[in-house]
Amino acid sequence: MSSIEDRFRALTPNSARLAERAEHVMPGGDTRTTTYHRPYPLTIARGEGPFLFDADGNRYVDLLGNYTSLVHGNAYPPILEAATKAARGGTAWPARSEAQIELAELICSRVDSIERVRFCNSGTEAGMLAAQLARRLTGRKLILMARHGYHGSYDDLELGLLGHDGERTLLGTFGDAASFEKIFAERGAETAAVFLEPVMGSAGMVAPPPGFLGQVATVAHRAGAMLVIDEVITLRLHEGGAQKLFGLRPHITMMGKIIGGGFPVGAIGASAEIMKAFDPRERGSMLHSGTFNGNPVTCAAGAVSVRELTQARIDKMDAQAKRLAAELVRAARDLELPFSVRQTGSLMNIFFTREPPPPTILREDSKMIANFHLAALTHGLFFAPRGLIALSTVISDELLSEICERGADALTDLAGAAH
Ligand SMILES: Cc1ncc(COP(=O)(O)O)c(C=O)c1O
Repeated sequence: MSSIEDRFRALTPNSARLAERAEHVMPGGDTRTTTYHRPYPLTIARGEGPFLFDADGNRYVDLLGNYTSLVHGNAYPPILEAATKAARGGTAWPARSEAQIELAELICSRVDSIERVRFCNSGTEAGMLAAQLARRLTGRKLILMARHGYHGSYDDLELGLLGHDGERTLLGTFGDAASFEKIFAERGAETAAVFLEPVMGSAGMVAPPPGFLGQVATVAHRAGAMLVIDEVITLRLHEGGAQKLFGLRPHITMMGKIIGGGFPVGAIGASAEIMKAFDPRERGSMLHSGTFNGNPVTCAAGAVSVRELTQARIDKMDAQAKRLAAELVRAARDLELPFSVRQTGSLMNIFFTREPPPPTILREDSKMIANFHLAALTHGLFFAPRGLIALSTVISDELLSEICERGADALTDLAGAAH
């Protein structure tokens, strides 16, 4: 029997050819570190609903939705219609659009802590903007965040992934409020903000232990530091965002992904008082510009994406995710593979260890997850090489049954390769 990699190569000759071509003009043939995997990432030709199609015509069930941003699947017709209509009227202009107001209104009406919004073009920019705002308002420099937390690729906020303190960034341990308390006791007076993901995504979909987020919020408040909650991937967990689920009222909220309806986007939101710092009518207001901020096409698409993400749809995805997780666990157990899942709502991460590991980006199961990822591709399932899965509202229960079967087949291949 051929190896998993041989089968992957046999199914994807056009992707192999295009990877080779890409390597001549982009390092590693790619332009996003997280999407790279061996032997080469696929070239995708198009997406439609819950499916992606590669350059060889293979069909995959899209279980990633561009890293959680396509919450209504690919080319969702109402989004396509709104974006096309907007683009016909011009793709960008240096003035507001009505769609921009509508998207900001939707966000303000859903998320309790947000009264005003500023748009940018990525979650990374939202993190930069949040850090700038907190530093300006507190007159302090230090940022606190969780080890292995991720808030985009701004270097002051990237240290979480690297796992070590920096000149202007200190790291606490997610789930351990005392570790944050200790840093606040030592450096609280210098701390501008503590940044937290309510559920840590890149670290393996780690949910907070009860009380943890509230305890860190309290210590931050006591030290006069701002609480920044990063909802770039978690806004989809509840109509009011994960902060509603966990009873938080952050000073600043970072957003991205789903609020752009599949187009590049980022935003921060906060109270009117805090956001006054950006008001150009105020003396000494902060400079915040960006040629594509609040782009009309993005905002038209984003408004549909947010409006159509109802609580009923969120609950349905949650139930489907629970079923998928349970069926994968059962299939892996029948094959005697070490396997575990962490799932919160429509987001999950799978691991080839008996228990989910502590928050980390350094995986001890890296070989198995890499093999399983390739095996799953050969069975028509597309998810992140690190095992991140995000469901979308366009996956039917029938398709979910098919996903479970394909997942079990990929696990069988993996068990065959391992034994
Ligand atoms: C929690 C979190 N914050 C920030 C970001 C950065 O967003 P972007 O990729 O749009 O820059 C991400 C991206 O995955 C994220 O997961």
